[in-house]
Amino acid sequence: MQARTQEASLQACSCLRSLTWPSRSFLGSLTRQTEQFSQFHGEATSFEMHYSNQQLLQQSQRNQGSSWGRDINHALSFEERHLWGLRGAMEVLGLLRLEANGLTVTVALSVALAALLTWYSTSAFSVLEKLGIRHPKPSPFIGNLTFFRQGFWDGQLELRKLYGPLCGYYLGRRMYIVISEPDMIKQVLVENFHNFTNRMVSGLEPQPVANSILCLRDKRWEEVRGVLTSVFSPEKLNEMMPLISQACDLLLAHLRRCAESGDACDIQRCYRAFATDVVASVAFGTQVDSQKDPEDPFVLHCRRFFAVSIPRPLLVLILSFPSIMVPLARILPNKNRDELNGFFTKLIRNRIAFRDQQAAEERRRDFLQMVLDARHSPSCVGVDSFDLVRDALSSAARTTDPSPPRQPRALCRPLTVDEIVGQAFLFLIAGHEIVTNTLSFATYLLATNPHCQERLLREVDLFQKRQAAPDYRSLQEGLPYLDMVIAETLRMYPPAFRFTREAARDCEVLGQQVPAGAVLEVAVGALHRDPELWPCPETFDPERFTAEAQQQRRPFTYLPFGAGPRSCLGVRLGLLEVKLTLLQILSRFRFDACSQTQVPLQLESTSALAPKNGIYIKLIPR
Ligand code: HEM
Repeated sequence: MQARTQEASLQACSCLRSLTWPSRSFLGSLTRQTEQFSQFHGEATSFEMHYSNQQLLQQSQRNQGSSWGRDINHALSFEERHLWGLRGAMEVLGLLRLEANGLTVTVALSVALAALLTWYSTSAFSVLEKLGIRHPKPSPFIGNLTFFRQGFWDGQLELRKLYGPLCGYYLGRRMYIVISEPDMIKQVLVENFHNFTNRMVSGLEPQPVANSILCLRDKRWEEVRGVLTSVFSPEKLNEMMPLISQACDLLLAHLRRCAESGDACDIQRCYRAFATDVVASVAFGTQVDSQKDPEDPFVLHCRRFFAVSIPRPLLVLILSFPSIMVPLARILPNKNRDELNGFFTKLIRNRIAFRDQQAAEERRRDFLQMVLDARHSPSCVGVDSFDLVRDALSSAARTTDPSPPRQPRALCRPLTVDEIVGQAFLFLIAGHEIVTNTLSFATYLLATNPHCQERLLREVDLFQKRQAAPDYRSLQEGLPYLDMVIAETLRMYPPAFRFTREAARDCEVLGQQVPAGAVLEVAVGALHRDPELWPCPETFDPERFTAEAQQQRRPFTYLPFGAGPRSCLGVRLGLLEVKLTLLQILSRFRFDACSQTQVPLQLESTSALAPKNGIYIKLIPR
């Protein structure tokens, strides 16, 4: 062992002497590198070198006196550090390979990752071009998100102006094909309905929302729509009318106080409270007065429900990496979401349990009860009877060709409690904001167009004289100018100004290729503001909706409630709420614009189209 060490040391010394300067200095630098490397990459290497060196020194001390020993000693004293270096270097040659490999691997991985990310950040953005659809240039990862920085309303109008009635955009990696051409819209919503049955879902909808008919798909959607269509029949709505009237009375009491104060009031806030009271009463079977009792748990939870929004950085992440972020967001704990869902679900479950104990004739005649009554329906209406909008809007009646009647699809299983909760949620997500905003826009337009308001007031007074207690039918027939005012309000400011359909299979729509899975967005805002379809689109003119004007209008140019079998299911209820409320208010007050009224109106459109800063007007008692 000793002999082997001496031999190794000698070899080391001779090798060392034979080295030229550059080589030595190279080795020295290698040593330093090795030391540094060792410090970083493990103590074993430096410990080994230290141990070998100590052995060499001890060996030389033992052999002192002999020439061999002196040689060694000399060698050690002279080249000790270099020997150290050499030993290091010899080991380092291996390590360097490792280090070089490590570095190379790190660099290679970084380059590959950068290349992959660069590819990923734009890889989704070639589809529209391949389809020949014009669109703004997308930015890596986020697509055209910044195009909509002013909201989707302005973005949609701008998109139409720049790229025409068939165009597109990307939100993150998701492609949208935007259509605002009436014939194409008809193809998608009606003619090819079998291929465009579903709306786009993000996958982030919480459970009750995902269970609502708004998000249901294919067969289950058809079954549930069949059940719910009967719940929104005129007869059923007539039964629900007293509940809406009660909420209306609370609103009137509050407006009276506003009028008495003589101050301008934000009527949008009052309408929001009214809409909450209607949802509580009609959908959740519970009575509240949101205006008087804003801390009521139902009111508080509704406020929280509407306040939920995704922080912008998270939104960008979700849009950029949907396949990772969406499943992650679904499984990550979310206290707020769980609390909200828990509250509303428990409320409905309690109501159902309570009603199960009541005698049939004692039960409240609300939406919840009607869904409970219909949930076991053996069969119901078929797809050809789903389009309630066609019947509700006389203008739409001519738009759809009669299709051969389809067999009603029987429920393969009754509605579960979760699904019933989902349908109650519908009122929150599909009805609440939209009704609030429709009433707000109508009030603004009447206040700023006093000649229209005067004509409406005359109609209201006449109607009130004839109908002391209006019912659903008389409201439909007796207020034609109010109908025109509401229709023109929804043309100018359609709260649901964009809705989608998803292509189930590859298809062609009027010569345009549409791949399976593509999302088509119907741009109602752009359609309603198209000067070729609606001359002077910025002008409020209810005359556009006289019976004659409607007869002459090109079909599929007016879509505030959508069209076809998947159009708004609550159209009758929505119009009933808006009409009844305006009728009750205008029979007692007039709307006056004042210095606080914002003209022109600023809009917000992150979800539904809404006034940005409320609607401030004065209420003048009549
Ligand atoms: C003025 C009031 C309202 C307007 C302007 C409106 C508008 C719309 C629009 C544009 C759609 C999309 C239609 C489509 O995709 O073709 C829709 C869908 C829907 N709306 Fe309304 N809506 C209103 C009130 C209501 C109310 C009060 C309810 C009831 C709670 C309601 C329930 C629904 C449902 C359930 C859907 C989805 C239907 C389905 O997917 O089968 N809406 N609404």
